Amino acid sequence: MQPKLAAKARCSDGEVGKISKVILDPLSREISHVVVSEYSGQRMERQVPISQIQEVPNEEEVVLRCSVAEFGQFPVLDRDGYVTIHDLEIAHLEDNLHVEPGEILVPYPRLEQGVPRRSFFANMTHAIGALIALPFVYPVLKFVMKPMYRPFDNEWFSVGNVNKIKKENIGYQFKFRRGFKEVFMPEQQIEKNIWVVKATPEVRKAVYEGKDKKFHDEKGDIVWVNKANAPYIGFSGKCPHLGCGYKWRRTKNYPDGVFLCPCHLSIYDEAGKVVDGPAPRALDVLPMKVNAAGEVKIIDIEYKAGVEKQIRLL
Ligand code: FES
Repeated sequence: MQPKLAAKARCSDGEVGKISKVILDPLSREISHVVVSEYSGQRMERQVPISQIQEVPNEEEVVLRCSVAEFGQFPVLDRDGYVTIHDLEIAHLEDNLHVEPGEILVPYPRLEQGVPRRSFFANMTHAIGALIALPFVYPVLKFVMKPMYRPFDNEWFSVGNVNKIKKENIGYQFKFRRGFKEVFMPEQQIEKNIWVVKATPEVRKAVYEGKDKKFHDEKGDIVWVNKANAPYIGFSGKCPHLGCGYKWRRTKNYPDGVFLCPCHLSIYDEAGKVVDGPAPRALDVLPMKVNAAGEVKIIDIEYKAGVEKQIRLL
């Protein structure tokens, strides 16, 4: 099935335009924004975070949470800040990814804007290689917008073994799969990730401030406690700004490495604290346990993006 990116975008109090493009986070393989071409005024293209999408009732229509007035406050798309996936020259990408009549945009990071486009594309092609397996965008869009799991699922997931982490205070990514189910559809597996740091006492202190961290269910009951002196700390793989995937990167200013989110360039240190960018809070620490053999298990909690306080959603 071809995706219908020309879907109408409707606010709570009226229709505002059509979806003309989607913006993709190349690292998480998730859609971070949709671009809505306005019907009225100067027919601008506005960049709307995916979290604003309330419902996709059918392939022809997308319902936004905001009002028409609030929609008008979303930023106008700065087209120069993006490249399309066609610019990236990824072999066989188009065998698996079909988006018509819209475009898929990938952010052209501000940090890279002094870099010649040719070398940016070469680097990006490497980073985006995983996109080859991306399914059609419409189903992706659909699953991002619908509730994926039952609320407050406290299941433990095995994600790997800490013997892979050789150095302290370095982010190490573990991938795992979990099921989600839409109404009337069979359960599907999706890939997720967390970042684990083998933390020195200083970093542990920065994360926990000397206090054990408690995690609660929807009734307020404690489901797990992370000990403040436990050497391994797991961070949710979603950036607390708007939910993009981030990576551990060495940069000119941070030669030892930091967590860098490519969507809006939030930067976090090894303790998950924000050191730059628009993120409203530190990386989200997850409930985690490591057994004597080094096997890591986590509870895959998701928190609301874009707000200072941690508000548990799943
Ligand atoms: S989603 Fe905006 S900085 Fe990560």
